Amino acid sequence: MKTVHTIQELRNEVHRQRMAGKRIGFVPTMGNLHAGHISLITEGLKQADIMVSSVFVNPTQFGPGEDFDSYPRTLEADAAKLEAAGCHLLFAPPVTEMYPGDQDKWAKVVVTEITDRHCGAARPGHFDGVSTVVSKLFNIVLPDVALFGKKDFQQLAVIRRMTTALCFGIEIIGVETVREANGLAMSSRNGYLTDDEKQRGATLYQCLQAAKEQICNGARDYDAISQQANAKLAAAGFEPEYFSVCRADTLEPATPDNKDLVILAVARMGKARLIDNIDFKL
Ligand code: PAJ
Repeated sequence: MKTVHTIQELRNEVHRQRMAGKRIGFVPTMGNLHAGHISLITEGLKQADIMVSSVFVNPTQFGPGEDFDSYPRTLEADAAKLEAAGCHLLFAPPVTEMYPGDQDKWAKVVVTEITDRHCGAARPGHFDGVSTVVSKLFNIVLPDVALFGKKDFQQLAVIRRMTTALCFGIEIIGVETVREANGLAMSSRNGYLTDDEKQRGATLYQCLQAAKEQICNGARDYDAISQQANAKLAAAGFEPEYFSVCRADTLEPATPDNKDLVILAVARMGKARLIDNIDFKL
């Protein structure tokens, strides 16, 4: 695997592969890689000849007071994991390469509507930062296919909409969430949890599974289901942020006649903001 730090080097490498007729796959990350990230590379290798990944802790998607400064930066270990997974090219730019001068004041990419609720409401500006940096990365890499985790379900929906609306012509693939043995969704931020918190953190996925089961068995009072889940989460030591039964396509609150559903949940535990979801059809 080759690691490059500048846009020009990345372009040269990818251009060479494209001219050789290779199909290019891309997985953007913020590093501190775990088995969830690696599953995106593994899936990508089934879809493309050459896999490119990026490790870039993107400052514009962090709000004031969020964990940009303390976000774990582990480039050497990340490169070793990517190489072992069969990734061909790693792009690890410094902030000045991605945001030179004051260009971030000239332009940003804003995806509307689907960003109004859930994490978009809880973290103002977050998805503008995500869609802007992913647009830049798409323009730099020019991949045929890009892979994103379903763990960040709203992010995946935002990227799908942006890709369609801005005619990127890139195939977007959503990959299933990789979990710890107890069901906790893997996350770089799980490192902020103590062992005890990691055990109790499993309650989030248990609540999602229980709610799905209730709905599959005919329950349709989604407010009551969400209140029940929030009470159970609070009892397990979480500070629940939201637990919403939504339409999987628009992420609007579901009505009883909707058949394609996702339950989106966020809850804080200690220093970590845990995010998870479950999607299913009735
Ligand atoms: P990051 O949190 O590093 O995640 C990179 C990719 O890995 C995302 O597509 C995310 O959904 C996926 N991922 C994380 N945990 C996963 C798990 N347990 N199972 C499956 N996939 C998982 O998401 C970002 O970075 C950034 O917002 C980014 C898109 C790179 C833009 O800066």
